[in-house]
Amino acid sequence: MQHAEVARQSGSSSHNEQHFMIGNLDESEFVKILHQHLSPTAPIQLEENLCGREPQVRKIKQALYAPGRSIFIHGDRGVGKTSLAQTVAYKHQSANRDPVFLVCTPQTTFGTIMRGVINALEQPQRIRHSGVATTHQGTLGVPGVASYQVIRQPQQIDIAAAAADPVDDLNHVVALLSQISANTKEDTVVVIDEFDRIASDEERSHFADFIKQIGDQKITVRFVFCGVGESLDKLLGAHGSCYRYLESVELPRLSWDARWEIVDRAAAALKVTVGDRPRFRIAAISDGFPHYVHLVCEKLFWEMFEDTEPCIAAGSGHYTSAVAASVLGIEQHLKQTYDSAIMQNADGFEEVLWAVADHSDLFRRPDSIYESYLNIMRAANRTALDRHIFAARLRTLKSARCNQIVATNGAGWLHFRESIVRGYVRLRAEEQGVELALEYQAAKVKQGSWPQRGAKRGRFGTTQRDWQQMQNPDEEDSGS
Ligand SMILES: Nc1ncnc2c1ncn2[C@@H]1O[C@H](COP(=O)(O)OP(=O)(O)O)[C@@H](O)[C@H]1O
Ligand SMILES: [Mg+2]
Repeated sequence: MQHAEVARQSGSSSHNEQHFMIGNLDESEFVKILHQHLSPTAPIQLEENLCGREPQVRKIKQALYAPGRSIFIHGDRGVGKTSLAQTVAYKHQSANRDPVFLVCTPQTTFGTIMRGVINALEQPQRIRHSGVATTHQGTLGVPGVASYQVIRQPQQIDIAAAAADPVDDLNHVVALLSQISANTKEDTVVVIDEFDRIASDEERSHFADFIKQIGDQKITVRFVFCGVGESLDKLLGAHGSCYRYLESVELPRLSWDARWEIVDRAAAALKVTVGDRPRFRIAAISDGFPHYVHLVCEKLFWEMFEDTEPCIAAGSGHYTSAVAASVLGIEQHLKQTYDSAIMQNADGFEEVLWAVADHSDLFRRPDSIYESYLNIMRAANRTALDRHIFAARLRTLKSARCNQIVATNGAGWLHFRESIVRGYVRLRAEEQGVELALEYQAAKVKQGSWPQRGAKRGRFGTTQRDWQQMQNPDEEDSGS
């Protein structure tokens, strides 16, 4: 038995001087395995680490075979766009050259980014490093007035030259790219990331013309764009004619199976197990945003590694400490958004925010949120606000005073302005002993092994996909 073996090894290690509390791994071995499988902030570049994106990888692969077609990956911040783009870029790219990665900033123009692309492509080919190289990141343009950032792995770009010499003219760009295509036989992929950050509508619309032109000219250099946004119209403008040259890939939140896959793969590599409860809670808190799964797992395995007792299974103590460590280790932007919204929890804002985050529906009606709120307050044994005061708190959460953490759509349904915030709200509640997002519990956990807080399945605004997942928990999320 694998675990018996691990236990035996762990037991014997306790007699040694060293403290190897996961199997017989020393710290460097542990860290190596941990970071091969968990990367809370760095994008994924290897297909084997990309969980739950098979339909999208397949779709992009087919699009890359189609001459002249560009790809646009769009979805919420943190959902995994860069990871998908980089993984497919490495997969499709010929072996003797690395893909080109460029990241837009608000000042990016069509001309400067194209100069960056052309400079990168004109560099002599090089032997690719085996494995994944370190990311080099530079800023193009005058310091402090970045035009765009260039991430190269591991090629370098002449940044100053690119900034000084933009190629604004579309025909000129197309001619240069045609020449490069004619001279090179290999597949080359260019990823233009964070496209939504380009501030100028006009600059963004130049890319629509560009996509059409390179489609017509059958240029072999393939472009993959990534941007935050629910629709391409908002990103590219109403340039209907460019859409037939584009494969649009909308990235949904990760399915439950994909969330669990991240946990299970890392645990298996470390030869430990994560019990049902923490495994479920990690997936529930994440809300399908993989960053949280990676982060909480990383902290969880560190807790196990640093335990003074040898361990092969994550206990509830490890999990609780991992949640607390994750709250502290979170990206500053998310922490600030939350802290300023709850205003030191003056007047019970924190629990109202928890109530908003208590369901996987992206859009929720105020009465559904109030129902969550009452459940939460009951379970936590706290006194609930009256419905009218609650409604006033919700309105305040939408105001500038609370950084507009919550917004409403035209029909008055509420949502987090940035969907990724919801995972952090859940994490903060969990740290204080309040489990949110239990609504999947009945459907997902077949053995019903831990207490339920009277949560119900979605009644309001549940999407087709949410329903499918709730009805058929084992079914893969087909995505879009
Ligand atoms: N399909 C996936 N499977 C496992 N982890 C993922 C997946 N997609 C993204 N991640 C992880 O989630 C985090 C955020 O992903 P990223 O690609 O940067 O998102 P985005 O570009 O949409 O903001 C990264 O740390 C990455 O390792
Ligand atoms: Mg990204």
